[in-house]
Amino acid sequence: MKLVIHDLKKEEWEKIARDYPDAEVVTDNGNMKPCVGCFGCWNKTPGECVIKDGYDNMGYLIHHSDEVIVISRYTYGGFSGSVKNVFDRCLAYVLPQFEIVKGESHHQKRYDEIKPFTFIFYGHDISEEEKKNAERYVNAVCTNMRSTVKEVIFRECETETVCKTKDNYSKNDKVLLLNASMRSKNGNSAKLAGELKKLIVKEAEIVNLSKYLNKMSELVKELEDVSTIVLCEPLYVDGLPSQLIRLLEKFQNEYEGGRKKIYVLANMGLYESRQLINLFSSVKQWCAKMNFEYCGGLGVGAGELVGGITEAVKFGKWPTRKIGEGMNRLAEAINTDGKTEDIFAGVNGFPRSLYIAIANSGWKRMAKKNGITEKDLYRQV
Ligand SMILES: Cc1cc2nc3c(=O)[nH]c(=O)nc-3n(C[C@H](O)[C@H](O)[C@H](O)COP(=O)(O)O)c2cc1C
Repeated sequence: MKLVIHDLKKEEWEKIARDYPDAEVVTDNGNMKPCVGCFGCWNKTPGECVIKDGYDNMGYLIHHSDEVIVISRYTYGGFSGSVKNVFDRCLAYVLPQFEIVKGESHHQKRYDEIKPFTFIFYGHDISEEEKKNAERYVNAVCTNMRSTVKEVIFRECETETVCKTKDNYSKNDKVLLLNASMRSKNGNSAKLAGELKKLIVKEAEIVNLSKYLNKMSELVKELEDVSTIVLCEPLYVDGLPSQLIRLLEKFQNEYEGGRKKIYVLANMGLYESRQLINLFSSVKQWCAKMNFEYCGGLGVGAGELVGGITEAVKFGKWPTRKIGEGMNRLAEAINTDGKTEDIFAGVNGFPRSLYIAIANSGWKRMAKKNGITEKDLYRQV
């Protein structure tokens, strides 16, 4: 059985459906929920997502397919919001435990197999550089999902929406820190955004994207006047979380305000912050489409450790010294309307092997707390 994940309109899909006889087809029916980052698919109902909206069995579907075909509009170097939503709900396909793969930390396999993925990106005039971005991105996704890229195909399609951004800059000098994590209050993005806010001398406000999931047009409108946005988000399946991609798409389709300065404050669960490269690239590509000014950002590795200790240990001291330095540089750029290069920081002096050992043993404790055994964590569905 082939598994096809796509974002095509019904009539477009019907034109090509005969090429995929007997395929299991996954597409957004309008009710798909974003991943809430609870890790329940690892430590409560291992192998299955806890959100029962019809997209809870993605790990099962991938495992039981012979190959996976992904058809997506080329969107800022990766998948459209709806295809990315499906990928964010695929976490259960791998295990929570880390191991070293190709010199970097990644998740262990739940299933003893290497699933082949074919990616078909469609878009208007996709440049050679954009093709390279997409290839780098899907390779990262497959490394993370312990799968393999069979083929990457690019298809030309009709003209895409051209943004209507005005030439002047938006007037309100307020800094908007947009927390794009669904763990709005106690998440690591929220904690890091809180630390950054302390260093910003201008008026600054943290806004949670989770409050606007069903009214993103309203948010786009509300942000029209704001001159500076800091996108604060976790790395999800090597890219931006789907709810943020959906917002960025909304901007491209509906925004009619002035230019903006865009900064990034991203964090991730794995150890090496360089794995955030595709996320940074996506924001840059979105800025280019919107005629917004990309002004740099800070990428933080080992985010669960960093978020977990921010209250217990003074932020900016060991082991978050390098992250604190990066945060100061980012704040300085924001305070002076300036730019910074992209800064990739981690928990220097805190060995990767120790981080992995602590993370891996933590899942056993969580399983016990949730009334399941350590063996259950490895459940195959
Ligand atoms: C669906 C999903 C996908 C994730 N994918 C990645 C990933 O590709 N690489 C990584 O390092 N961490 C990944 N993580 C871990 C998060 O980036 C990490 O837990 C982060 O600290 C969460 O931030 P938050 O608390 O602000 O949501 C993923 C988490 C979830 C829930």
